Amino acid sequence: MNNPLIIHAPAKINLSLDVLGRRPDGYHALRSVMQTLELHDTLELSPDPTGALTLTCDAPALAGPANLAWRAADLLRQETGYAGGARLALRKRVPVDAGLGGGSSDAAATLVGLNRLWDLDLATERLAELGARLGSDVPFFFYAPTALATGRGEIIVPLPPLPRVHVVLYKPDSGVSTRQVFAGLTPALYSDGSQTEALLAALRADPPLPPRAWPLSNDLQRTVRLLYPAVARALDALRDAGASKPLMTGSGSTCYALFAHADDARQTYERLSGAGGWTALTSTA
Ligand code: C5P
Repeated sequence: MNNPLIIHAPAKINLSLDVLGRRPDGYHALRSVMQTLELHDTLELSPDPTGALTLTCDAPALAGPANLAWRAADLLRQETGYAGGARLALRKRVPVDAGLGGGSSDAAATLVGLNRLWDLDLATERLAELGARLGSDVPFFFYAPTALATGRGEIIVPLPPLPRVHVVLYKPDSGVSTRQVFAGLTPALYSDGSQTEALLAALRADPPLPPRAWPLSNDLQRTVRLLYPAVARALDALRDAGASKPLMTGSGSTCYALFAHADDARQTYERLSGAGGWTALTSTA
């Protein structure tokens, strides 16, 4: 029996997230700079000679065909007509309903892994196109670590990788429904994309600007703070723990802070430990 193929599925944060407006198809037009993190789930893939498709997970509630990774595998089989099976074993480290893209990243890792395991030889663009059918955030992971996302989030332009930045993540116990957050937006909360443009300009600065000078933004944060007071408290807790400009990632509920120096990040991380919720100390990938 061959060794399983092992793929890391990294978390992401949104460094900017401009919501430009609601589209006729019900989705929202976005402009966002996205960045992967060292924090990752791990996916092990092995062939299944019986032709079955199975997904086990160390978080048992996430095992089985409802998981986006399983659905990615099923979609790949349908689209290519491949008749074989696979065993997927997922080790979760990235929390769900958290704005960290964990499920989307697992789906992207599944498409990459099975493309290799099953010798399908599909191009990255084709995998990303299949990923877009599973969720708006999936295509980004094919173009990580740093990229600009537009459309409903699925149109990706890779950006030059950023210097390594230390990241503290802090998630309240409650997760957030992305659908509910977008449904709660009003036109007054839309923006014109200029916040993302300002961030792109700051990231291009020469000499480079320190992360505390990056104009981070997220148009969903105001709505989520109102719908989920735990997120407002998480942002306050990060600030109290030494973060100068904490921000929410995606539709939440995770909030993050960036640090140029590992010691500062560690200090904030340690001050948050014991405050409840979930905390992680990581860095950009
Ligand atoms: O694309 P995905 O299935 O991850 O999106 C989940 C939900 O979030 C969508 O059904 C939609 O309600 C909302 N959404 C949106 N605009 C986007 C992305 C997601 O309104 N650009």
